[in-house]
Amino acid sequence: MAAPIGVFDSGYGGLTILKALKEQLPQHDFIYLGDNARAPYGTRSFETVYQYTLEAVNWFFDQGCELVILACNTASAKALRNIQQLDLPNMAPGKRVLGVIRPSSEVLGTFSKTQEVGILGTTGTIQSNSYPIELAKFYPELKVFQQACPMWVPLIENGEFDKPGADYFVEQYLNELFSQSKCIDTVLLACTHYPLLEAKIKAHVPAGVKIIAQRDIIAHSLVKYLQNHPEIDQKCSKSGQVTFFTTDNAETFEKQASLFFGQKIEANHADLA
Ligand code: DGL
Repeated sequence: MAAPIGVFDSGYGGLTILKALKEQLPQHDFIYLGDNARAPYGTRSFETVYQYTLEAVNWFFDQGCELVILACNTASAKALRNIQQLDLPNMAPGKRVLGVIRPSSEVLGTFSKTQEVGILGTTGTIQSNSYPIELAKFYPELKVFQQACPMWVPLIENGEFDKPGADYFVEQYLNELFSQSKCIDTVLLACTHYPLLEAKIKAHVPAGVKIIAQRDIIAHSLVKYLQNHPEIDQKCSKSGQVTFFTTDNAETFEKQASLFFGQKIEANHADLA
């Protein structure tokens, strides 16, 4: 049976990560699931995001996956720890579920000269405080400033990310972030949707500020993980296949997905729970 690597997001955002994973690991099989029918997750409660994400993880396991990447900061912040510590040991002790917050935190401090960084994310990611907690483990001296950007995912999911109306909300949240400190020199896009706003974000930040997207960080971290865990890598099938599923309408997904994935795709519908 094929054992693709599962890549999960609430909607389209995880496709920005999948694109980089595919580039770094062209032989591996991947299966993508966007829970578009229930997106966005960013403003949902801890319990809801945990329940939805667990349903998705079970679906991936039913598809034969041995390894699942939660390519969604909100799901990583609100569901990953419970799934790793409470569910996996009973459900599937040999399988692995990984998130995006730890690998991003591991390297973020290396980009900053001032040792002051900004985190932009959904309300759920920011309220969970996951980034300051993880970053403190790797960079105890680093000052971390956070800003929730609740309007960005709806703008992106509705195709407004390159329209003039988006500038208003980009400027608003960046002003709020930089009003917390003028010394922030590195900003992490801690939501996998945000790379679609990258050009506008870069245009609105003060000169010299680095904008860090997660795609390459996560791809390099997965390559390293598979090298360090050959027992998991051996279980992953490698015929270069990528398949796409959405919990909503497959045709709509196909139209939107190419913006995030950079090429045309064929999608299928999946029912969770
Ligand atoms: N792309 C997801 C993330 O990285 C969140 C989008 C949503 O709010 O559903 O956090």
